[in-house]
Amino acid sequence: MAVFRKKKSSGLSSELVLPEHIGIIMDGNGRWAKKRLLPRSAGHSAGAKVFRTITRYCSDIGIKYLTVYAFSTENWRRPKDEIDSLMKLFKDYLEEALRDFKDDSIVVRFIGDKAPFSDDLRQLMLENEESSRDRDGMVLNIAMNYGSRDELVRAVKTISQEVRDGKLSVDDIDEATVSSRLYTAGQPDPDLIIRPSGEYRISNFMLWQAAYTEFVIMNKLWPDFTKDDLDEAIRLFNSRNRRFGGV
Ligand code: FPP
Repeated sequence: MAVFRKKKSSGLSSELVLPEHIGIIMDGNGRWAKKRLLPRSAGHSAGAKVFRTITRYCSDIGIKYLTVYAFSTENWRRPKDEIDSLMKLFKDYLEEALRDFKDDSIVVRFIGDKAPFSDDLRQLMLENEESSRDRDGMVLNIAMNYGSRDELVRAVKTISQEVRDGKLSVDDIDEATVSSRLYTAGQPDPDLIIRPSGEYRISNFMLWQAAYTEFVIMNKLWPDFTKDDLDEAIRLFNSRNRRFGGV
């Protein structure tokens, strides 16, 4: 694993090793709203604020890759008004990023199938990717209409087609062949995945990439998640003895 030392001041000791790639399953917005007798959309709105804070913080302390799970392939099953409120939050953020973050160093990428989103949202996703492509800072993967099984099925189809077209031989297929056909091609696997809200589930998130990832489950709902919680997750990550199948 590549080692990056922290860049800016935070609550972390300078001796700690920063994970190169952090994944976050931003869970608990609905429960946060319910506890306050608010509509679920209010929970997502509070969650979007925390997403902004934590994204900025990760970039500031020197994290190289951050992947956030914003909308899964299964989230389309939610009531229409909840989906509409999430789409509005995505649109607001992507417009804000284009308008206000011109001098930013963050590279914005989307992982997932963009096809089902509205034309204007797809356009905003493309513009954000294009305008941030040549930056040199943290890569922010926003997982939207993302599902890891769907990603793997797509990779299998791509590989099958390449074999059928004679571009790839079956004997040459190895783990790198699969990794390089995923949305995260060329990126390191996540070292740490954080799931707030206390659920012990992976929920179809980066199944292939998480083969040796350290998991930190936190008993906090995502809208209550703070920079200190991220520091705590990094401290817990540092306390783990990663063996990658060795001894
Ligand atoms: C899961 O919590 C959360 C989501 C399905 C949506 C996550 C989206 C955000 C945090 C907004 C992100 C915004 C941008 C701009 C990327 P849940 O609704 O399943 O919570 P519950 O389990 O408590 O019901």
